[in-house]
Parts: sequence; structure tokens; C-alpha cells
Amino acid sequence: MNIKSSTPFPTAALIGGEWVTSKKTFPVLDPATGDKLADVPDLTPDDAKRAIDAAHQAFPAWAAKPAKERAQILRKWYDLIIAESEALAQLMTAEQGKPLTESRGEVAYGASFIEWFAEEGKRAYGHTIPTTVASRRYVTIKQPIGVCAAITPWNFPIAMITRKVGCALAAGCTIVVKPSEETPLCALALAKLAQDAGVPAGAFNVITTLDSPAVGKVLTADDRVRKLTFTGSTEVGKILYRQCADTIKKLTLELGGNAPLIIFDDADLQQAVAGTMASKFRNAGQTCVCANRILVQAGIFDKFVAALKEAAGKLVVAPGRDAKSTVGPLINADAIEKVKSLLSNAVSQGAKVEMGGKPDDHGALFFSPTVVTGVTADMTIANEEIFGPVASLIRFETEADAIRIANNTPFGLAAYLFSQNVSRAWRVAEALEAGMVGVNEGVFSNEVAPFGGIKQSGLGREGADEGLNEYLETKMICLGGMNA
Ligand code: SIN
Repeated sequence: MNIKSSTPFPTAALIGGEWVTSKKTFPVLDPATGDKLADVPDLTPDDAKRAIDAAHQAFPAWAAKPAKERAQILRKWYDLIIAESEALAQLMTAEQGKPLTESRGEVAYGASFIEWFAEEGKRAYGHTIPTTVASRRYVTIKQPIGVCAAITPWNFPIAMITRKVGCALAAGCTIVVKPSEETPLCALALAKLAQDAGVPAGAFNVITTLDSPAVGKVLTADDRVRKLTFTGSTEVGKILYRQCADTIKKLTLELGGNAPLIIFDDADLQQAVAGTMASKFRNAGQTCVCANRILVQAGIFDKFVAALKEAAGKLVVAPGRDAKSTVGPLINADAIEKVKSLLSNAVSQGAKVEMGGKPDDHGALFFSPTVVTGVTADMTIANEEIFGPVASLIRFETEADAIRIANNTPFGLAAYLFSQNVSRAWRVAEALEAGMVGVNEGVFSNEVAPFGGIKQSGLGREGADEGLNEYLETKMICLGGMNA
């Protein structure tokens, strides 16, 4: 790895302020080339317990700090991330594969959560409540929930950590993070910068491991961990949800989606194509909020297909470090196999590949941008997350059809619609069963707006003022026995 940062980025894990190595390690690979970037410690369930011990020990002092002092440390962390943003972007592209321009965007996006929560932590207000009895007064105060655990994914190796850790630390919680085994290096780099910024030992711990199920069991079973936050598949989210039941932990789950993106006849074609491109091909289609089913009304269908093919034809498939790259590799061989199998299954049931549809010759994990038409709502490709650069188009006739098809899924994370008719846009946005709706917009994630899903897409919200509340408990204090 030849990345120039002002302090070298670590390859050891962080427990209680100590950089921890282990005899057993695992390699981190560059998905564009298959080359090894580094070896990181393959930690055990015992190490996870040590990390919880450290977070537990650090909690009282961190929680007792005035929010303003915590904010100053978080602001320093933000500044250090911004100062190292180019090196972090290169690290992200190396281990995750996304194009450098997207990595730069993600570093800024990720840092924005720390900046936002540093300020928002100062506004963890309680209430005073008009009394019911003359001798009493009621108030609420907000207190940090305690030790938290975070299990984070590979597709946004910085932003999905800062969205959780920035918030937890701002609220006065301490945290143990288990990053994806595909992208641990960004997590460790973030932890180093947090340490340099003055986040105290034990407040932010990172454990790298290949044994996610066993480490997950430790994090979910320990009664001292009062909250679990997870971004990943619905399948794993359900396991963690069950495992947290015995200790009644608070949970934030950001799980899978099956986002509908609806283009009505009255859409602005250019806007619809730009929004679809942004939503579908961001991170080579590997986001939970990617348009998974593109529903196009019959009157605009042919024009839209032609315009989408033209736009997708301009994408440049290449290793992310190549300045021209707009579509990097997928994360691993399973991801490529899944895309291939969803496509061949759709084609065998009558779908038509309009462009792409095959692996790209840049390397084993590259797949060509693909547009497929003739998809119907019952096909597997319309019911499972594709997580690849495949735009799957379903034709529909009426607004009611679009809403019915869009909502016919157990998932409810993101949804999108394109229409120039304000009444229709509002009506459909209200009718869509999703936690987030983009109207004439293909990408809406940011630090000030609540991110999260309904139905089997998850619980709770991240970012925004709502995100802070997920790390706080409300305590009611009743002051009684007062003389009139
Ligand atoms: C995700 O795909 O899990 C996150 C996407 C985002 O933050 O926009």
C-alpha cells in the first residue's frame, strides 16, 4: 500500500487505547486486482469482551464530560479527517474498490456526521412538563444510554462508522465497532485519527475479526452493552435482533432494501435519467438505497430506455484509482455470482438485456453497466437486492399500478419518484411504504436528514436530531412534596 498520510494508518486493532496485534491475522484485498493490501488481527470473542470491558470502564468519565468538551474533541476529529481526506479516499478505493471521486465524496459525507453531531450533542434537551399536582414538578433529562456496539458494512467503510460513532460519542456513550472483514483499514484509520484528536482510551474501540458470528454473540449477549447498531442484510439483522432480546438492548437496524424508482409519463426526462443514474450506479449499485426496481410508465418507456442506455454507455468501468473510473469492481466473487444468477434467471423468464449483461474484462470482479427490460414484479431480480450495476426496468400503466407494485415487498427503505405534477408527487410520496422518498432526486443521504427504513428494512433512524435520540435515554424526574 503506497498511501501518503501524515501519520501512518494502522493495521492493528484498538482496544482500550492500545493497538492490539495477534498471531492470527487475515489479509485485506484490493477488489480491483486481488492484491493483498495488509494483514489485520483476527481477534477472538475474548478480545471482544476485553473491548467491552474497556468501553465500560471509559463510560463514566466520557458521559460526565460537558457536551461542549466532547464537541471540541469531535470537532478536532473532524478536522483531522478533513486534513487526511485524500489519503483516506485512496485507502477506501484500495480496500473497497469505489472510484476515487466517490471515495472523496464519502470521506466528506462521513466527516459531516462528526461535525453535525459534535454540535447536536449540545442540544440534547429535556422538557419541563406542566404539573398535575400542586406539590409536584416534572422534568425530563436526556442521558447517554451507555456502552454501544456497532457492526458496520463494507459498502460505505467510513460513513457507516462515523454516522454511528460520531453520534454515540456526542451523546456521551462509548462504543465498540466491529467493521466488515472486507474493509477494516478505513475503520482503523478513523480510530487512529480519533485517538489523535483526544478521544480517550476505551471510548472508541475497533475489533477486527473473521469470526463475525462469535464476536456478534459476545456483543449482543453482554448486559453491559446497552445498544446495538447494525447496518447490513435483513437476514443478519434478524439474527442480531433475536440475540439482543435476552438483554433488552436498544437497537438501530439499517437493513436491506428493494427500492422502487418510479418514472411517470409527466416526468422531466433528463431529470429522471440523471436521478436514475445517480441512484442506480452509485458505488457500482452496491448501496442499500440503490434503485432496485425501475418502474417506468408506458407513455415514456421507450424514450426513457433510449436515454438511459445513452447515459449508461458513458460510464467508465475501470479500477477506482483510475481518474476516469465511474464504475469500480464489485466487492467479491459472491457479489458477481449473485448478479449473474439474477440476470440469467430474469432472462430465462423473458427479460431482455438491452446493454451490458456480462462481466467486464478489467478483472474478475468487474461487471458491465447493464440495462434490462421486460422485468416483471414476480421475478427474483425484482424481489432481491441486486447490489450490482444492473438497471432492471418494469413497465406499468397507471399510478395505482405503480404504487401497488412498489409497495409489494417486505422491505421499505428508500423509494424514488419522478413527476412534474406536484399533486401527484405528494400523493405518491405519501402512499409509498418507505422510510425515505426522493422526489425528482436520486441521491438524498446527508447528515441533517433522518436515514432509516420501515417494514423489514429496519428500526430507528441515523443522522439528524432523531439519530442523537437513539443514543439517549429519557429520564423523568418528579420533584414532589413541595409546599405551595
Ligand atoms: C447504505 O447503503 O447502507 C447507505 C447509503 C447512504 O448512506 O446513502
